[in-house]
Amino acid sequence: MSDQKEWTKSSWQQYTALQQPNWPDQAQYDEVIDALSTLPPLVFAGEIRDLKTLLGKASQGDAFLLQGGDCSEEFSRCTAPNIREKLKVLLQMAVILTYAGNKPVVKVGRIAGQYAKPRSSDTEIVDGVEIPSYRGDMANSIEPNLEARIPDPQRLMKGYNMSAATLNLLRAFTRGGFSSLHRVHAWNQEFVKRSPMGRSYDRLAKQISHALKFMETIGISTDIPQMKQAQFFTSHEALFLGYEEALTREDSIEGGWYGCSGHMLWIGDRTRQLDGAHIEFLRGINNPLGMKIGPNHDVDEVLRILDRLNPENEAGRMTLITRFGAGQIEKHLPGLLRAVKSAGKNVLWCCDPMHANTFTAESGHKTRDFENILSELRCFFELHWAEGTVPGGVHFELTGDDVTECIGGARQLSDEQLGLRYLTTCDPRLNAEQSLEMAFQIAEMIRTS
Ligand code: PEP
Ligand code: CO
Repeated sequence: MSDQKEWTKSSWQQYTALQQPNWPDQAQYDEVIDALSTLPPLVFAGEIRDLKTLLGKASQGDAFLLQGGDCSEEFSRCTAPNIREKLKVLLQMAVILTYAGNKPVVKVGRIAGQYAKPRSSDTEIVDGVEIPSYRGDMANSIEPNLEARIPDPQRLMKGYNMSAATLNLLRAFTRGGFSSLHRVHAWNQEFVKRSPMGRSYDRLAKQISHALKFMETIGISTDIPQMKQAQFFTSHEALFLGYEEALTREDSIEGGWYGCSGHMLWIGDRTRQLDGAHIEFLRGINNPLGMKIGPNHDVDEVLRILDRLNPENEAGRMTLITRFGAGQIEKHLPGLLRAVKSAGKNVLWCCDPMHANTFTAESGHKTRDFENILSELRCFFELHWAEGTVPGGVHFELTGDDVTECIGGARQLSDEQLGLRYLTTCDPRLNAEQSLEMAFQIAEMIRTS
């Protein structure tokens, strides 16, 4: 890094940071940031290192990354049932991928901090009035009026507190028996049970229970942490850099800086400029990093960013999350795979089949079609197999609730039904049933890898 100036947790401030809220009162903002920087970290360096090791395995094809959750978490939905249902659906998907796909699954939620959103436009017109765009609950309110849209720094503090509460419950659920494989049946939700996908899941759960019983019968103990606990990690887009800086801490055990707002932090497709503030900030923290790559990327720039963010070419450090869309993946992915491979870069390849498959339905709802999502995933696997690279993970926007936001799937959710339970404040998510269906399909693909 000889051509690079020295990194500090605030060196990003010398660069241009896109997609930041316009905080109206600097003194008030500084006060909140100061307070945040003295509060305890949300996650710990040791956990972050464990995740990096697991992602390194996934990059070799020895594990598979499942990353998913809301497009945008909401303060008003930070409730025990909501967190539990989201965890359940991710655990179910992980079991399907592990059992039917024969791969250990690294579970990473878009959760406990996914409160900041990049937007394509700074403002929007509501009833003829121009108001700031919604930038996530950590900046302003979704309510479509001028006052609600003015960024409020107290929301950063609230985001920290909500993330802490969410993580606390996740830790209880994953360590305290709720996630035990002995309870694999109990993760199936009532409204899913009656569906074809729910029944497929029940059959799989039965097979797992039989296998556990068999082990116990022949005297192998299943009373071990691998059975009774789940390893679950958190992630979000590292967008609001003041917040991220305030939660950046030096590891007291091994040294080095860690972003302690979540285990894995990713950089969005709109903020990954080589000379931008986001890249500058992320290069100095030791977390595993994701980077979204859409159709507008430049292959050489991607390689230069990899040099900047991962100069030691460490395995597990970089996850490249491609999001080209069903219609464009064939055009963009092969060239990128070849370039990264021939440059000898260690990366984990992950497919986000959501973000470039969004369209506005006739009903006016922003939606995604299950078929397009599946089609981008299929192409992702096929193209990797053709290039001899490893399709190592998937990234979804999903929820444990019975929402009607994406069309299609086994129940053929139609445009007319979107209005029934369209709850997202940002992008449309797969509901629990569609998520299970997706997992069964991916398991098939993994098995044939
Ligand atoms: C997102 O993941 O919600 C997002 C905004 O993605 P991207 O940066 O790929 O557009
Ligand atoms: Co989104």
